[in-house]
Formats: sequence, C-alpha cells, structure tokens
Amino acid sequence: MVTCALPYANGPVHIGHLAGVYVPADIYVRYLRMRGEEVLYVCGSDEHGVPITIKARQQGCTPQDIVDKYHKIIDESFKSLGIKFDIYGRTSSKIHEETASEFFKKLYDEGKFITKESEQYFDPEANTFLADRYIVGTCPKCGAEGAYGDQCEKCGCTLSPEELINPKSKLSGAAPIKKKTTHWYLPLEQYEQWLREWILEGHKEWRPNVYGQVKSWLDGGLQPRAVTRDLEWGVPVPVEGAEGKVLYVWFDAPIGYISNTKELLPNDWEKWWKSEDTRLVHFIGKDNIVFHCIVFPSMLKAYGGYVLPENVPANEFLNLEGDKISTSKGWAVWAHEYVQDFPGKEDALRYVLTANAPETKDNDFSWKDFQTRNNSELVAIFGNFVNRAVVLTHKYFGGKVPACGELQQIDRDVLAEIPAIRESLEKNIENYKFREALKDAMNLARLGNKYISDTEPWKVAKTDMDRTATILNISLQLCASLAIAFEPFTPFAAERLRKMIDSPLDWNMLGKEEILTPGHQLQAAELLFTKIEDAEIDRQLERLAAIRAEREAAEKAEAAKMVSPQKAECSFEDFEKMDIRTATVLEAVKVPKTDKLLKLTIDTGIDKRTIVSGIAEYYTPEDMIGKQICILANLKPRIIRGIESHGMILMAKQGDGKMRFVTPQETLANGAEIG
Ligand code: MF3
Ligand code: ZN
Repeated sequence: MVTCALPYANGPVHIGHLAGVYVPADIYVRYLRMRGEEVLYVCGSDEHGVPITIKARQQGCTPQDIVDKYHKIIDESFKSLGIKFDIYGRTSSKIHEETASEFFKKLYDEGKFITKESEQYFDPEANTFLADRYIVGTCPKCGAEGAYGDQCEKCGCTLSPEELINPKSKLSGAAPIKKKTTHWYLPLEQYEQWLREWILEGHKEWRPNVYGQVKSWLDGGLQPRAVTRDLEWGVPVPVEGAEGKVLYVWFDAPIGYISNTKELLPNDWEKWWKSEDTRLVHFIGKDNIVFHCIVFPSMLKAYGGYVLPENVPANEFLNLEGDKISTSKGWAVWAHEYVQDFPGKEDALRYVLTANAPETKDNDFSWKDFQTRNNSELVAIFGNFVNRAVVLTHKYFGGKVPACGELQQIDRDVLAEIPAIRESLEKNIENYKFREALKDAMNLARLGNKYISDTEPWKVAKTDMDRTATILNISLQLCASLAIAFEPFTPFAAERLRKMIDSPLDWNMLGKEEILTPGHQLQAAELLFTKIEDAEIDRQLERLAAIRAEREAAEKAEAAKMVSPQKAECSFEDFEKMDIRTATVLEAVKVPKTDKLLKLTIDTGIDKRTIVSGIAEYYTPEDMIGKQICILANLKPRIIRGIESHGMILMAKQGDGKMRFVTPQETLANGAEIG
C-alpha cells in the first residue's frame, strides 16, 4: 500500500512536490510492479483547510470552485508525467466525508478524545471565529504590513495572533475579540511511550532526517492536539452541539488515503489497510513528518485494527535556481506548464528530479543543470547507445538480432560487470535511495555506450561479420536490460525502447545474457531522447528573471518605507559638541581600488580640506562637484585608505540602504552653522 501526500487543491503542483514525493513514489511503485508485487498506489487532493477558504474569498468564488479547478489541473499533470495512481481521489467526496466522520465518531464514542475550552479570536462583525490566517496586522519582528496571525510572509517568522501589532479581521476589518470555544483534542501524550517503542526502538532503519525529527518531537514531550476547528469548510463534526465546527484538515486528510482506497475498492479495501501482510509506505515531504509518524499513527492506533507504516521515506526540499520555491511568490516550475513547454520530455524532468532528489539534504534545480543532464546523459549516453545498437542491427542484419559468437576478453569484462549493477540497483530502490539507483541504471547505459565505442562494430563490419554479430548481440541484450532498468525512472523512453525491441520483458530478465533470441526481428529505430536547445532554457530563465525582478522591486519599495527605531537619548550638551556646517564640494575623485569611496575636496568656509566618503555607490564624482552639502566639521580626522579624512558628509539613509546627501533649501554661504 503506497500513498503519496495528498496535495492541497489550492494551487498546481510544482517540481518541489514532484521531486519530494511523487516521482520517488512512482519509481518505487513501478519497480515493485515489475517485480510482480501486488501494489495499490493511492493519492488524491487535500481539499479542506483555511488557505482554500481564503483563496475562494479573494477570488469571489466558493471553496468548492477552487478545489474543482485545481483538482483537475493536478490530476492531469500527474497523468501527463506518467505518475499513474490507481486512484486520485478527493477529500470533498461523499465517501471521504462518511469515512472521516465515522472515524471521528468511533474515537469520540470510545472516549479517546478530551475536550478543552479555550479562548479563540472572534470577529464580532462577521459573527464568526477566526483562524489565525484570517487575522492580519503589522509584523512585530520586521514591521511589514499584512502579516498573518500564524506567520509573516515577509520575514518568514512564526507568529501568534497576540503578537501582531494592530490586528484586524480579514473578513470585516474589525478588531478581533476573544471568545470561549470548546474543541476535541487527541491526547497524544498517551501514545508517547508506544510511539517511542514502535519508532525509536523498532524503526532505527528509517531515514535519519525522519527518525531525528520524530525523536526530537518525542523528546520534547507530546501535547494534546486539537482535531476540530470553528470553520465552515470541512467535514462537519458528527456530534450534537458541534454546529459550526469541522474536523481539522490534518485530521481528515490522512483518512483520505483510506477513503480513496474505499472509493476504488468498495468491497476489498480492508485487505489493504487491515491485514497483517500489508506493507504500508507513505511518501511525503519533510514538513509532513510529524503528521505521518506521530499524529496519524496515533489516530490509527486509537481506532484499532489498522496497519501502521513500515516506512515513511520523507524528502527534504528542492530549491529553484538557488531560492526557496514559493507558490505565493510565483517562484516555481509548475508541472502542468512544464509538460506544455517541453512536450515529449516528461522523462527528462523525472530523470533530473531524481538525479538531484533532495533525499538527504535540500537540493537545487537549475535549468542549466537540467539541460546538461538531458543532453550529455540521456541523449549522449543512454539514447546514443541504444540508437547505435538498433540502427547498426538494421543496417547489417536487416533488423534481426544476430547470433553471439565466441566471446573476447572485452566482452567478458562487460558481461561480468552487469550482475553487480543489478544488485546495487535493486538494493538502492528497496532502501528508498532513488538517486543512487538511478546512477546504477545510468552506469548500465554507460557500460553499453563505452562497449560499443570501444569495439566499433561499424568498422569491424568492413572485415568481420561474425565479430560484428557478437558485438551487436551483446549490445542488444544490454538494450533490453536498459528497457527494464529504466522503466521506473523514465517510463516513456523505456516504453519506446520496449517497442523497438518488440519482446516481452520482466524484471527477472535484467542482466541476462540472452533476453533476445537470435533471429528475433526488431522494430524501426526511434530516438529515445532529443536535445534541449539553449533557446528553450533561456526562455525559462527569462521568465524566472522577470519574476525575480518584480519581487525585488516590490521588496525594495517595501524596505524603503521602513524607519529605523530612535536612538538612545542624548543631552543638549552632547548635541552642542557637534559642529555642523554648510560646505561646497570643489573636487571629487574615486579612491583607486575601491567601489564605495570618493575623495572630496571641500570648501568649509573655514578652510579647504579633504573628506573621504562612502557614497560612490550612489553618486559619481561629476554628480558631486559644485554641490552644497552639510558636514560634521569637528569630527576627529581619520586615515582612510591612506588619505586623511577630516570631517563627515551628512547623508540621509532610508530603509533600503539608499543614501542621499542633505542640502540646504537655498544656497548659503559656506560655513553656515547648523543647529
Ligand atoms: N496537503 C498536505 C500538504 O500538502 C499533505 C496532506 S497529506 C495527508 O502538505 F496525509 F494528510 F493527506
Ligand atoms: Zn515579519
């Protein structure tokens, strides 16, 4: 039973989702299926939660409209990338509501919840409780406007509504008040001991990032978790007196795995969830670890009778061109746009996302790397090898697999390498090390490509047809092995290759010396991969550059408005010590070998002197000459870059760091005192 985190249906999926969850799960499932395992592969849209209601409000439509739209986009983009779930369901379905509702009711009836009264924010005008996201105000940390009650998107800090300066309801603009409300909680602390034994003792083989996160949650001590919310969008709490309350999205969503299975197999679903011999594996991103390793298992345990995950291979995050992927900032490569922009290149994305999979640490996707890996690995090694083998077979043997003659040392050397590659590939996939597994598959292609380059059958064919036959036989057997080995990773190319080979293949044949019998007729050669040109990559980079420029401009404009806090008090005497005067710049030159410094000759009315000032980023020497400015005249002289600087130019500095010199309203005599 393989599940993938249900994506929120409030936006399309992007390469971060694909690399973290869906591509690795798909590799795993395809592999198991090739090995003849019975697998059920379940996913669906996560259609509840507050962000969906906010998006609906912004767009003036219903939450159902939002999830209908994105459910379709997401479903199609998975299909087009060859990620074929047995079912892609949704949590707004009837069967899900029934299943989640029944799940809650059973735990409720059996007294597995506790209730707690707490004070929650309430909008007195809209007459409704407010989720933290529905409260906005000024961020206490960075001063940005429009920070949410749970997080400031500007500086990324986590907040609670209490901390916001000047909090307002997003619904009515009214200041929220606090009101008492009652919710149901799952007392996680009761499961702590059991979780420790089950995971910390029993699953030391889980990925270190997963195991470590679980351990630190458990060591920190578990608290009761609210499983209901005051909200209209969601599964209604099936209990009298709970009007206006729904199940918390993180309570109902994982039950979606079960309800989607039920939807597909109404009579047969229990064997996947309740029988001893089921192996349950959850593919998720690292932000979901606590829910899949602590909360959901505790729910299942409380309910009883369900299997627990055998493994939760959570991935870290993928960045894009060095920056964190962000749906709200538009910094992403969207799956549905990728398949439009690169038709027929679904495998290239799957390949690159696996080669760079963030399995042990955050990783980066860059378009240049994508192009290089496509062109110099898929095209130049795998594709090139297969093409040479199949085309030469058509050229010399009418497309029939030639017979293998006597082996030479080079043949034996190549054949001897194959079993270890297969073994490593299998071990890596079974241990959720998909990057390493892909390297193994690629090593097989590399081996073939080197073999055909070294043996040069196109030259041998001029003198020795028997030898040519042997080389091509070995090469074609390797092609057949590649069609098997690459099926989990690049299923579209594997399918094309299988068609060329035109022979049934299964995993057990991988690496065998006679997968294809001599005399077997091949189909016409077809290219497995095609090159990606610079222009295609440039187009993507330009799109990202435009997004980045827009964001930077917005951030600058925002920063410019920010004012630094007032300094500590000073006395009148302190102030009087400062000799501030008007002065005029007579000469200005850049200080050699620096970016920021200008050497200015100043007429202070008292004397002519030199001041070195760090304004070259904002002003050229020409800008400065002849300008009247204000200076602090009695600043103790300092040597800057070997030049004695006597005094300081007064500059106004705004939030974005930009500096402007200060000049009198009208030109004055130099040396006029300011105070
Ligand atoms: N929608 C969640 C997310 O994108 C994942 C939900 S996984 C489930 O982070 F188990 F709750 F379904
Ligand atoms: Zn902030």
